[in-house]
Amino acid sequence: MNLEEVLRFRRSVRIYDKEKPIDTDKVKHCLELATLAPNSSNMQLWEFHHITDPQLLSKISKACLDQTATSTASQIVVFVTRQDLYRKRAKSVLDFERGNIRRNSPKERQTKRIKDRELYYGKIVSLLYARFFGLLGMFRVLLTKGIGIFRTITREVSENDIRVVVHKSCALAAQTFMIAMANEGYDTCPLEGFDSKVLKRVLKLPHGAEVNMVVSCGIRKGNDGIWGERYRVPFEEVYVRV
Ligand SMILES: Cc1cc2nc3c(=O)[nH]c(=O)nc-3n(C[C@H](O)[C@H](O)[C@H](O)COP(=O)(O)O)c2cc1C
Repeated sequence: MNLEEVLRFRRSVRIYDKEKPIDTDKVKHCLELATLAPNSSNMQLWEFHHITDPQLLSKISKACLDQTATSTASQIVVFVTRQDLYRKRAKSVLDFERGNIRRNSPKERQTKRIKDRELYYGKIVSLLYARFFGLLGMFRVLLTKGIGIFRTITREVSENDIRVVVHKSCALAAQTFMIAMANEGYDTCPLEGFDSKVLKRVLKLPHGAEVNMVVSCGIRKGNDGIWGERYRVPFEEVYVRV
């Protein structure tokens, strides 16, 4: 399939064929490809929980309100955000960037570029990603409002705004995964119809982790696998040429 064929093949599959297993290693490889998704500040504040154990699958399905898209799935991936790991991820990006700049930047620009990265990943990231009952977010909003009088500035800096930032990037990884799966001829269904508290308990996720999306996986069961034809509102309604 070429890219357009892959994108047309991908549908949200609600019933999988239990007789047709999928290869765990191929699913894992699709998750490796998912890490190539663009993501905010390259912070990669995501985790992919790949579930293949039948008992755990049934618990996850229960947490997903036992939708057929999960109860008939042969494997499930839970995309999780890990905003709580921002210090660790910032450090690893900064370590990489120092070497990257030394290897690839012109000599005379290296010192400044490294300093810029150190400021961003060492200080600004901590200021942006830290959470404390909404208070740090309020402080950031006030600060950006003040600075915003004099210059352009990113204004979405409340604690909820930053949660959205982290979830957006994780969802791009989920979409990249679903496209990679379609390329293998495998089906998926993204779900947000789940009880996050139960899911977190089943997966033993720490307090700072949040479930972004559940993606069930398998092979569609003939024509029953999908809910009929695909519907999209007319393109003219969503396309704005400016
Ligand atoms: C974030 C998100 C959450 C979704 N949650 C569910 C869900 O809980 N249950 C479900 O059956 N489908 C769910 N879907 C699938 C959508 O209903 C589906 O993508 C949409 O109807 C378009 O159909 P298509 O994916 O076949 O093109 C979800 C999709 C997205 C992107």
